[in-house]
Amino acid sequence: MELITQAPRGTQDVLPQDSYRWQHIERTALSIARDFGFREIRTPVFEHTNLFQRSVGETTDVVQKEMYTFEDKGGRSITLRPEGTAGATRAVLEHGLLNGALPVKVSYVTSCYRYEKSQKGRYREFHQFGVECFGAAAPQADAETISLALLILKTLGLTGVSLHINSIGCPTCRARYHEALRGYFEERKGDLCETCLGRLERNPMRILDCKSPICGRIAADAPVMIQYLCDDCRDHFTAVKAHLDAAGLEYQLDEHIVRGLDYYTRTVFELVAENGLVLAGGGRYDGLVEEMSGMAQPGLGFAMGLERLLMVMEEQGCSFAEDTGCELYLVSMGAEAAQRCFTIATALREGGVSVECDIVGRSLKAQMKYADKLGARYTIVVGDNELETGVAQLKDMKTGAVEEVRLDDSLYTTLYNKSLDRQLAGVADLFQAVSEQG
Ligand code: HAM
Repeated sequence: MELITQAPRGTQDVLPQDSYRWQHIERTALSIARDFGFREIRTPVFEHTNLFQRSVGETTDVVQKEMYTFEDKGGRSITLRPEGTAGATRAVLEHGLLNGALPVKVSYVTSCYRYEKSQKGRYREFHQFGVECFGAAAPQADAETISLALLILKTLGLTGVSLHINSIGCPTCRARYHEALRGYFEERKGDLCETCLGRLERNPMRILDCKSPICGRIAADAPVMIQYLCDDCRDHFTAVKAHLDAAGLEYQLDEHIVRGLDYYTRTVFELVAENGLVLAGGGRYDGLVEEMSGMAQPGLGFAMGLERLLMVMEEQGCSFAEDTGCELYLVSMGAEAAQRCFTIATALREGGVSVECDIVGRSLKAQMKYADKLGARYTIVVGDNELETGVAQLKDMKTGAVEEVRLDDSLYTTLYNKSLDRQLAGVADLFQAVSEQG
């Protein structure tokens, strides 16, 4: 029985009273990304397993240890997406979007699945907002993508976030680096975990982000990629930094960032909260489209973890656009009044007003109590008298003020004007606050 009323480990429910916070974050991110030219893409929650093996990489923790993989009834190996880039790239290729005008810019809000040890800020089902940009090789694209991530966090009101950047080169310069890494780890082979021993030959860079503490300690003193960059990669990175400098976007050079996914090339970056949580990560993946389609086309992007964003926003007391809630609750006395309230509610709802009326058969007192609980802005009581005269009392639940209204079209106009007055007062307050700031 317990299992029926308990969510699986590492998952979370978003309850109705909290969903506006998620909507605020998602709306803000999607809308700012839209201003940068990114339009939303939606892809399936599951893909063919080999998509992730080929893109994220066979030797990564994500593929080796964390994927939710199963065989479907047709005998295909299927995996719940552990991240958003592979699916977005697959969809962009499948639908030939790269044959049109470049760059192609897409954004997404997705659920992701990784079988990780669940702890604060680390879940098995989590959500990402992300963007991907295809067909832009210039360093301006790296700077623009980074500036988008920073602007989203700034607009959400987060403070104390630091930007860490690094370059992990291209396959040409990485070959030399791999040799250096192999040499370093060979000498310490006896202490590496089983998985990393396997990585030593195939992909020694993955040892650098192994979650085992012993491998982590060994990796801390390993050679760093930045010292092995070829001229092209070095020039690219210098230009990215110059663009960030010119725009006044502060960053820290962090030569230990390698990212946990294989597709990255050149610029990689992470946005880290004051409490050390990595809120967002991303970078360039100039070989991914070619790996998947044979057609060379650069790409880059980032993703931010929505659970982590929400957690840090709450810790910092950031504000969220509140739910507007119920504008009017129609309280009815008797069956005829209930029917009339339903008719009025139907008409007002068509006009976009948030109205509720009794659907439980409660008493007058219980309906008033419920309206109060809902936080209804206004109430109207409809009984025999109101039915007969077509006139009722509109009560402002905040101020207690009461005014006479007609139960016809004019009610819509009255409510509309009141809502407009409130919005105008809000704008006036805003101007007042701005002028007081000087
Ligand atoms: P990632 O670093 O694996 O990159 O994930 C991006 C963000 O998702 C992290 O910075 C973190 O905020 C959040 N995240 C990751 N794993 C978890 C988890 N288990 N629980 C909660 N939050 C988590 C990617 O996924 C790349 N696809 C990003 C990218 C897009 N690179 C280029 N384009």
